[in-house]
Amino acid sequence: MAGGIGAGGTLTDEVRLLRLFDEISDGLSRDPRRLPEKLFYDDRGARLFEQITRLDAYYPTRTEIGILRRCLDEVRELVGPSPTVVEFGTGSGRKTNMLLDALERPTTCVPIDISEAQLLRFADELQREYPDMAVMPLIADYTEPFALPMPTPSRHPPEGRTLFFFPGSSVGNFEPSQAASFLEQVGWAGGVGSSLLIGVDLVKEAPVLELAYDDPEGVTAEFNRNALRHLNHMFEGDIDPAAFAHRAVWNEADSRIEMRLVSQADQSFTLTPDLPDREPLRIDLRRGEEIVTEHSYKYHIEQFESLCRRAGWRAVRSWTDDRERFSVHYLEKEA
Ligand code: AVJ
Repeated sequence: MAGGIGAGGTLTDEVRLLRLFDEISDGLSRDPRRLPEKLFYDDRGARLFEQITRLDAYYPTRTEIGILRRCLDEVRELVGPSPTVVEFGTGSGRKTNMLLDALERPTTCVPIDISEAQLLRFADELQREYPDMAVMPLIADYTEPFALPMPTPSRHPPEGRTLFFFPGSSVGNFEPSQAASFLEQVGWAGGVGSSLLIGVDLVKEAPVLELAYDDPEGVTAEFNRNALRHLNHMFEGDIDPAAFAHRAVWNEADSRIEMRLVSQADQSFTLTPDLPDREPLRIDLRRGEEIVTEHSYKYHIEQFESLCRRAGWRAVRSWTDDRERFSVHYLEKEA
């Protein structure tokens, strides 16, 4: 389900819930069983993820922030004055602030996130910090169709570029072909002259990767199990999250980390959604059976740039840290 941007407005809550239930029911019936990544991010999950970003084992956030510190002056020059910033997956907004502080008189910021409370809190703070900038938060799941509130070009003074900001390597949650079609649609929404600043985690030794997704403190394990709590809450489920163990595996052939939940017993659970025309969904699991909850793809720099090129984006600059763990790319939409 690659998102369609700008096509036909936002979905109603009920349609959104129906689509999510059907996606979940389809995923749980597959082999291997699969749950969508967006299930992580209820309010508790968003807080757990914030905790993850501060763990020693989880290198991506601090590495990306280090790269941003070094590249944002150059980004400021490349982007030019009065840009509009559209950000996918704002989270706590820490990097949004870094970017906006670096840019020359940003006129509009559209922070997009699926986690409502966190997003609105951040948007309020941002508006206070930047009283002259238009702050237009958008609560949306960017893997689904949604409309961007793009500013009208008739505004005075004239708008600068649109800069899409997609940090954190969240693009790694898309299958590569979906990542390409998502980025292609982003380019269509922004048009020629728009640019993209995107963070991408890189392929590296398995132990470093596996530790990052299975920290000794157990925060990632709790984050993973939280998808089940969220599921219970949304669809009247009776899942016992404690009956699942957390597992993170580096799948080298497919170049991705896979997070899984391993059933610790023969067990069954039922989701009984309060939705029209939907039967309760009962799932039976054997001890040791796994549910895949996340794919987090890792790239080589050239590989990611060529994916972007296929999606209509020309690589202008890329930066990495001295251990080449993470990369940040600045690209421009091709004519
Ligand atoms: C938010 C998708 C970038 O894949 O590293 C962190 C999510 N999952 N620890 C990632 C995550 C487990 C994270 N992204």
